[in-house]
Amino acid sequence: MIDLVVEGRLFLDGELKQGCVGIENGRIVAVKKVLRGETKIDAGYRIVLPAAMDPHVHFRQPGMTNKEDFSSGSLAALHGGVTTVLDMPNTFPPTDRLAVLKDKKRIVRGRSYVDYGMFVTTDLPRRLEAMAPHVAGLKIFMGSTTGSLLDNDDKSIHRMLRKAEALHVPVSVHAEDDSMIFHEEAGSLKDHLRNRPADAEFNAVRRLIALGAKGVNICHVTRAEILDMATEAGMSSEVAPHHMLLDIGSPLGARGKVNPPLRQPLAKDALYRAVAQGKATMLGSDHAPHTVDEKSEDFDICPSGVPGVETMFPLMMAAVKRNDIPLATLVRMACEEPARRFNVPKGRIEEGMMADLAIYDPREMSTIEGSRLYSKCGWTPYEGMEAIFPQTVIMHGEIQLKGGEPCGETIGRDIKDEPL
Ligand code: DOR
Ligand code: ZN
Ligand code: ZN
Repeated sequence: MIDLVVEGRLFLDGELKQGCVGIENGRIVAVKKVLRGETKIDAGYRIVLPAAMDPHVHFRQPGMTNKEDFSSGSLAALHGGVTTVLDMPNTFPPTDRLAVLKDKKRIVRGRSYVDYGMFVTTDLPRRLEAMAPHVAGLKIFMGSTTGSLLDNDDKSIHRMLRKAEALHVPVSVHAEDDSMIFHEEAGSLKDHLRNRPADAEFNAVRRLIALGAKGVNICHVTRAEILDMATEAGMSSEVAPHHMLLDIGSPLGARGKVNPPLRQPLAKDALYRAVAQGKATMLGSDHAPHTVDEKSEDFDICPSGVPGVETMFPLMMAAVKRNDIPLATLVRMACEEPARRFNVPKGRIEEGMMADLAIYDPREMSTIEGSRLYSKCGWTPYEGMEAIFPQTVIMHGEIQLKGGEPCGETIGRDIKDEPL
């Protein structure tokens, strides 16, 4: 008999259908109307989705573990229905060479509640070649932001894109043209937007298109027009909830300081609509935790970034409930596409896939409270907003979250070094 069976309204082929998922050795072994198992989870009328994957987090380990570390960050992920994260390389030291990558992996190993992959950054093709077998992707920073990593030179970017393509390493780009960023004193979200205009983003994307950057992923797109530009050029796009839900009119002050910046209300609304119409490839939180103390500094010296891995899917589930976004669009952006693009056998409820599932009760709308979140940073820019958090999360066939609370062990694995 099958080890574990989950019964409920399953998300299959773009719609919800009553049925059973059979799980053995961490994998989905059957999807049928009726299945019998040693153990059964009856989700009843609740909906059973593939767990989400966040292709863009900053878990800050090593080097800045006062802000976050892999244990706290991965608990936050789990609480938000995310069982795979890709961590960015602007840790300290930056993940820019094999020795540092190996150290980072050694430090993180055994501490994560969810599966993870590591992005690296380098402008040296030979370094990328050495790291390639162990990485989820290459990150290119065309604009300066937290950490001082920068590669904004067409020749160098072109060289790295070619190398990454030859090595089959996915590339994600922070697309803000650094030469178009001003460094004037800023005291408000409006000033910060003036310093980092949308033109800087448009121009970075135009340059990538001119470089023939097919297949590249544009991170945290803030403008609806760029979603179309990316698609037309054969690139993928990633959108973060903060650019869809928050704008420069928000009372967040320095807490809302982030790169690329929050934009005008109209631009935000247009982005939200475009995402709802299915124009974005993926959701990515750009979870960038900084402590409450750091975010309470004067605007000008306060670090950029907002947390989000924990609230991304729950906020979007609330949007689905309000009929703002079709469920199928959300699952495609947050589950199917990230898994497909980064080669993780997840994202769909299908035989052979990893048994990573999240169960939601669509009637359980709650409001976000920073004090109830697991991220070490201790605050959220979404305080008081509507969200639907998962009740149960299963990863590798193990129950990792129950009754909305994490209950598992640090069984997360590296998607490259310990194949799932
Ligand atoms: O606001 C940001 N914060 N943008 C980035 O690109 C990096 C991030 C961070 O690491 O804090
Ligand atoms: Zn970025
Ligand atoms: Zn980022």
